[in-house]
Amino acid sequence: MTDALIAAAKAAREHAFAPYSKFKVGAALLADDGTVVTGCNVESASYGLTICAERVAIVKGISEGKKRFTCVAVVADTDTPTPPCGACRQLLWEFAPDADVVMENLHGKRVSYPMRELLPHGFDGGFLVNG
Ligand code: THU
Repeated sequence: MTDALIAAAKAAREHAFAPYSKFKVGAALLADDGTVVTGCNVESASYGLTICAERVAIVKGISEGKKRFTCVAVVADTDTPTPPCGACRQLLWEFAPDADVVMENLHGKRVSYPMRELLPHGFDGGFLVNG
């Protein structure tokens, strides 16, 4: 399954809209219903509005009725496989807390970490509930 998820992330990366950074990223999430949701980074001329591949995939999935994700794949063209940024880790924590996050570069170098290791002591909705 991980190989298929990485392949999906690699394919999604081809759709990246990254004319400013030229840094293309693809992501793929395995939802708990067994389906795969993909995303790529989408940059804005107003740079701060840029959205990372991981968050594009999360909002796509949630908007399509997915509830939780159990595995996350990220593909980019870097020597060291690219990890999710801090903002993406926050959202991944909320929707994929038990996921393995697998990162691969274009040469097949792969590393993976549990989400709980990438964002220890995360903040989530549980803190917003009193009592
Ligand atoms: N980016 C991602 O899509 N995911 C990451 O994990 C790291 C960064 C994007 C955002 C921006 O379009 C470009 O990479 C450079 O930061």
